Amino acid sequence: MRPIYTGTIKTTPPEADGRLNAPAAARNLEPILAVLTDYMPQAGHAVEIASGTGQHCAAFAAAFPNVQWQPTDVVPERLASIDAWAEAARARNGASNMAPAIPLNVEQPEWPLAAGSINVVILVNLLHLISDTAAEAVFLGVSRLLAPGGRFFVYGPFLREGKFASESDASFHASLRQQDQDIGYKDADDVANIAARYDLAVLERRNMPANNLMFAFKKLSTHISHMRFSLAVPRGVIIFPY
Ligand SMILES: C[S@@+](CC[C@H](N)C(=O)[O-])C[C@H]1O[C@@H](n2cnc3c(N)ncnc32)[C@H](O)[C@@H]1O
Repeated sequence: MRPIYTGTIKTTPPEADGRLNAPAAARNLEPILAVLTDYMPQAGHAVEIASGTGQHCAAFAAAFPNVQWQPTDVVPERLASIDAWAEAARARNGASNMAPAIPLNVEQPEWPLAAGSINVVILVNLLHLISDTAAEAVFLGVSRLLAPGGRFFVYGPFLREGKFASESDASFHASLRQQDQDIGYKDADDVANIAARYDLAVLERRNMPANNLMFAFKKLSTHISHMRFSLAVPRGVIIFPY
């Protein structure tokens, strides 16, 4: 398994109860909730990949109380913070629709959730921190998890037609590449094309604050996504223009 990158944005020190707080996650919450509101089902099961501090998942669970939320991450300290956010919500208003966090590395061969059992998956600010191969594994894994008609939301920074949206995006990408040649920004069109290969159709690609984008995908009902051969596609087939 490859190294894990948690992102360059610092979390503030934990609260006494273990909750980490990321200022960036607080800033992008409202615009993300606005997109979710337009496409979320009334009820069902949702999974967040790479939940980070857990503050987003706690806010999603509060905003969509009839949806059961399953947060995940790979870093033990983050898993503990996620659970602390769930516990704080329970103590505040008795909310019980956020399950204990489970470890999930998008690159692990089997994901610890039943195929076809999930209605919503959300992924915020991870694709630029992982390799092209891992990004492909995300779409395979999500496609396997989602029931037909399920939704997949992806938020983050992207290239548009091979170009950076700003100088600061270009230097952020360069700093990621300096850490690891295999990670960095993905092109929005390439991401939509990968999604299509896994039966995920774009419902909307929305411009978000600070040059970010958010995709809302819908899972179509075919069988291709449940086959494992997709991961065996040679790396060179996925060509990102940088
Ligand atoms: C930039 S943070 C974003 C966290 C959260 N989604 C947010 O927006 O605040 C990236 C997160 O991805 C997690 N992560 C990194 N590599 C991962 C992998 N291969 N599989 C799953 N999660 C991963 C890190 O532990 C970290 O919590």
